[in-house]
Parts: sequence; C-alpha cells; structure tokens
Amino acid sequence: MKMKICSGWRRFLFGFPLIFFLPHLLSVLELHQNSSVQEPQKKLQNKFDHLVLGSAAGQGLPNRLQCQGTKSLNKTHSSRNVSLVEDIAFVTVFTIYNSSVRNVDDRSSNTVIGDSSYNKVQRSMAVLNVFINFIQVAMPQSSVIILTDPASDFSLHKNRVFLYPIQGEYSRDKLMLQRIRSYISFLETKLQEHSQGPGNITHYIFTDSDIAVVDDLGHIFRDHQNFHLVLTFRNNKAQPLNSGFIAVRGTADAILRAKLFLQEVLKIYSSKYMNASRMLGDQLALAWVVKSHPSFDASRFSKARPFTEDIGGTSVLFLPCVTYNWTPPEGAGQFHGMPLDVKVVHFKGSRKRLMLESWNFYKSSPIIEDMLCLILASGRTKYDF
Ligand SMILES: *[C@@H]1O[C@H](CO)[C@@H](O)[C@H](O)[C@H]1NC(C)=O
Ligand SMILES: *[C@@H]1O[C@H](CO)[C@@H](O)[C@H](O)[C@H]1NC(C)=O
Ligand SMILES: *[C@@H]1O[C@H](CO)[C@@H](O)[C@H](O)[C@H]1NC(C)=O
Ligand SMILES: *[C@@H]1O[C@H](CO)[C@@H](O)[C@H](O)[C@H]1NC(C)=O
Ligand SMILES: *[C@@H]1O[C@H](CO)[C@@H](O)[C@H](O)[C@H]1NC(C)=O
Ligand SMILES: *[C@@H]1O[C@H](CO)[C@@H](O)[C@H](O)[C@H]1NC(C)=O
Repeated sequence: MKMKICSGWRRFLFGFPLIFFLPHLLSVLELHQNSSVQEPQKKLQNKFDHLVLGSAAGQGLPNRLQCQGTKSLNKTHSSRNVSLVEDIAFVTVFTIYNSSVRNVDDRSSNTVIGDSSYNKVQRSMAVLNVFINFIQVAMPQSSVIILTDPASDFSLHKNRVFLYPIQGEYSRDKLMLQRIRSYISFLETKLQEHSQGPGNITHYIFTDSDIAVVDDLGHIFRDHQNFHLVLTFRNNKAQPLNSGFIAVRGTADAILRAKLFLQEVLKIYSSKYMNASRMLGDQLALAWVVKSHPSFDASRFSKARPFTEDIGGTSVLFLPCVTYNWTPPEGAGQFHGMPLDVKVVHFKGSRKRLMLESWNFYKSSPIIEDMLCLILASGRTKYDF
C-alpha cells in the first residue's frame, strides 16, 4: 500500500500564496455538494475561493472515519484526559514583516473567509491564530512559544502564548535553514536553564504553524518512555521524514541529545542540500542523517507503526505521519481516508483556507469528529490561499 501522506514541503511561514499550474480537476467539480457551494465567483488557476466538499474517502474501511456529509458516525475524540505531570509547549517559527505587504495592492489580493477579508499579512496571522486556537482546545494546559525574528512586526495577546525572538537570517531562501538554527538555539537556552538547577519538566513539540492539533498528545511522552526525540515518517522513498512535527522530551539529557541530532542535520543540510534550501533541504537532510546510520532499516517506513531507533546516540521515536501529521494526498493519488485516531492535521500548501474554514466550522458546531469529516471531504480541493 502506497501512502502518500503529509508529503511534499510547504512554504507557509510567510503565507506566500504559491501559484501552481495544475490540471483542472474535473472530479472535484463532479463531486460538488450542492448544499454547501455556489458557483465559484473567482477562480485562481482553478483554485476555489470557497469551501468545496467532495466525497469522503475511506468509507466502509475499518479504522477509518465514517461520515455522512459533515456528520461523523464515529465518536473518537471524546475528551479523553491524559494525565501527565509534566507541561507541554508547542514551539513554532513565525515571522511577519509589514514591508512585505506595502507594495502589494491589498484589495485585489484580499481573501474572504466567512465574514472576514484578509490581506497577505492578515492571512498569515489568521493561520497562526487558528493554530493556537486548536492547541488550546485540544490541550488547554499546554503553552505555545513562537520563535521569531526580533525585526518581525507582530504581537499576540493570548494566554499561554509567548514570543521568543532569536537573531538570525529569515529571508525566504534561508528560512528552512534558519528554522533548524532557531530550534537548536532554543534548545540551548533550555539546556542552560536545566543546568541552573532542577525545575519542572516541559516537553517541547516543534511544529509548522499550519497544523491543527485535534487530540491530546501528552500520551506520546507517557506511553513511550525511552525516546529523546520524535520524528514523523511516511512510506515515501525519497522523502520518508517530514520536518513539520518534531517532539523533544523535556529532560536535560533528551534536550542535549535532540540538540546534537539537529546540529548533525544542520551540518548535512549546509554541506549537501543547500541547493534545495528553500524547500526540501531540511527533510532531505533529516532522511540522510537517519538512513546513513548503519543499523537503520528503512523498510520500517513501509508500515505505519511506531518504532524507536538509536541514531548516533539519540534515541529517536518514529511515529507515523498518518496519525501524527495527516494530510490528504494531492491530485488523484490513492487515498484511504482518515484514520480514526488522527491527532494532527497538516494543512499544507493552499489548504490553509480549509484550516480557517475548519476552525469557523468548529466554532459554530464544536464536535471535532464532524469537523474532521469536513476536512476529509474537502482536503483534496485546491484553494486560492
Ligand atoms: C442542486 O441545486 C439545484 C438548485 O438549488 C437543485 O435544483 C438540484 O436538484 C440540486 N441537486 C442536487 C443533486 O441536490
Ligand atoms: C464507526 O462508525 C461506523 C458506522 O456507524 C461503524 O460501523 C464502525 O464500527 C465505527 N467504528 C468504530 C471503531 O467505532
Ligand atoms: C479533563 O480535565 C479538565 C481540566 O483538568 C476537566 O475540567 C475536565 O472535566 C476533564 N474531563 C474529563 C472527561 O475528565
Ligand atoms: C505592523 O502592522 C501591525 C498590524 O497592522 C501593527 O500593529 C504594527 O504596529 C506594525 N508595525 C510596524 C513596525 O509598523
Ligand atoms: C512546578 O510546578 C508546580 C505545580 O504546577 C508549581 O507549583 C511550581 O511553582 C513549579 N515550579 C517551578 C520551579 O516552576
Ligand atoms: C542538490 O544536489 C545534490 C548533490 O549535490 C543532488 O543529488 C540533488 O538532486 C540536488 N537537488 C536539487 C533540488 O537540485
């Protein structure tokens, strides 16, 4: 079974709308659900400016979410409380510059979602806000740390959300490289704090900001006691690892090991994959570091089951993308629906419109499973975001 899940890379951090020239997807039009769509008023390269629902994949399959329209037939995310003594903080890299919008004709590039209209900067901010909102619903005890350029132009006033400026080179070309550097420098400061005496343990989950956490993730740290670092994998030969979700246990030892591992990834990235720095470099470097380890058996990527492996002294827990970094495949690839136990949905590329629409949907009808049905039915639509 070929699973093309959470594949590819995303250029979400600034919310740059990418223009893809993709063939017109007739199937999507044929699958239009009458009730929820009007004729497109504006189309950008066959991308939709409003929610479009197709049929939900995976119907009739066991262990896949079963939907009737946007009603879920399964109740799978019923407020299970995971008791965890330690805290969890989500960490993401995000920058925004007012200058990036000044030379753009705001009105013509505005995007309307629900009752709101967004320019480029506002779109990025909206994605960040929805990212935080989902975390605060799924894991109300956790905090969010935003690693950002000190020159970045934004502020956020939300409980348990902290800005953390890190000097660096945040240009588009260097952004993915800078992201790893920021992770490393963040871990370094945490290591220093640990060396100043025992405090409370906080586990860290480094993610892209275009994800929705839809279930508690505390169980990762409770159920798997022996890892330093978590990576998510998929069955994809060229790009088996996705960099959009990296968890680090909050002990001094694990933080140190995770930092050393990321430093190795950074070294490989800088020496081997600079030609791909804008897009896939970090993922290629991750895969290189993991696969070049002599005892590593890459065939384990073909089964969506967690496993742990020692990579140069760092104990790495590999978790399947299909549960921890789920995104519907693009185009006409095989699609087996959404697993019942999905924990993280990744709205890569133009799906960020769907991310915002999903949050609006959830706000008006707070049933996570129903929202997942909406995402499942709409996840293959190309949006104008
Ligand atoms: C779609 O909507 C039109 C007009 O509202 C209606 O006449 C038609 O029966 C609907 N089709 C389906 C399949 O619901
Ligand atoms: C999900 O719902 C379907 C349809 O009601 C049902 O047949 C299936 O057993 C449910 N699966 C689980 C795991 O609850
Ligand atoms: C989960 O924990 C929260 C806060 O600790 C509490 O308010 C809520 O009632 C708990 N829910 C369940 C189902 O135990
Ligand atoms: C950038 O724009 C935001 C929102 O429009 C505003 O609050 C902020 O003060 C601006 N910053 C600068 C440096 O102009
Ligand atoms: C550790 O956590 C406990 C319980 O949440 C809190 O009372 C205490 O102040 C924390 N200690 C430090 C050093 O943060
Ligand atoms: C980058 O260079 C490496 C070897 O130098 C090559 O294998 C790889 O295909 C190149 N990638 C891109 C995106 O050009």
